[in-house]
Amino acid sequence: MTAIPIRFFVCAAALSLAATPAAGQATAAHKIIFDTDFVIPPQDDSFALMLALKSPELQILGITTVAGNDSMERATADVLRVLEIAKRTDIPVYRGANMPLLHEKSDFAASVHGRWWSDDPPPAPPGGFAEKPAERESAMDFIIRTVNANPGEVTIVAIGPLTNVAMALRQEPGLAKRIKRLVVMGGAFASLPDGAGNVTPNAEFNIWVDPEAARIALRAGIPSQLTPLNVTRKTRFSKEWYDKIVAAKTPLTELVRERMAARFEKDPNAGGQMYDQLAVATLIDPTLVTSADLFVDVDANRGPSYGTTVGGRKPWGGGEGAQQMSVQHDVDFPRFINMFVERVTRK
Ligand code: BDR
Ligand code: CA
Repeated sequence: MTAIPIRFFVCAAALSLAATPAAGQATAAHKIIFDTDFVIPPQDDSFALMLALKSPELQILGITTVAGNDSMERATADVLRVLEIAKRTDIPVYRGANMPLLHEKSDFAASVHGRWWSDDPPPAPPGGFAEKPAERESAMDFIIRTVNANPGEVTIVAIGPLTNVAMALRQEPGLAKRIKRLVVMGGAFASLPDGAGNVTPNAEFNIWVDPEAARIALRAGIPSQLTPLNVTRKTRFSKEWYDKIVAAKTPLTELVRERMAARFEKDPNAGGQMYDQLAVATLIDPTLVTSADLFVDVDANRGPSYGTTVGGRKPWGGGEGAQQMSVQHDVDFPRFINMFVERVTRK
């Protein structure tokens, strides 16, 4: 299998059609921990962070990094640099797991998307490494400390492999009951339309990188919502939206231009799905998507279905560990892209 299509971002629409006020906008901001396998644009995680940074409905308590798209060290270096560019170094960054719980590098893993298995030192981000380093506390300790200090109030937005979340759950008794919500970009559901995987026939990348962690996190009983490939396949970031974003000329949109101009000059039809951006957007405005309540479990057995998500409207024999959660399967793309572009272009 060759490289998976560029995993980027988003955005969208006619700026005159500014997004309607999000449901809940008048209420207190969601306190979130942003857990990410970050890489500088055009990676989707970076566009998801831009959206979060520009959304007053979200209060980012901290960012935790994990191996996925690249190593944890690369994720950390890149996110620190993007925060520096955005002048948001007030947000602390915590280093998390550098490898999945059990899943090891294989010839297959090295030949498909992602360098989660890499121990290479991170390359310098554009403009060089950020001045401010990561915090000394680990991602897992930060998650535990923050959730315990704010019981029932913290939402974890997990847009990479679920290794950090699983490790925190394993470390701290009763933690799951104190987490308000788990927002996950991940999975692909054969029981819903458009449910093929993107790394194996049925597995989605984030879940496949750490199936054991995903199983722990999704079985924990935390109120959860999933943004799987079924719904992200109905999104596409293209030159139309890129042009609107770079026209804004902010420090972040200039970074986008620097990183993406050559790609769109070479191929004006280039584009890609908006995975992590959609997960963040639907926390801000759940009415962007249509969801089904499914009982969900993860196949963590080594074999052809390793790392697949399975979802059923009812429990099934063999799936007794499955927990019921909200699984997105359709999106109002014009409204989503308009919201995304309007926010990412904010000064
Ligand atoms: C997911 O995998 C990662 O490469 C992306 O950042 C996204 O979180 C999509 O399968
Ligand atoms: Ca990601």
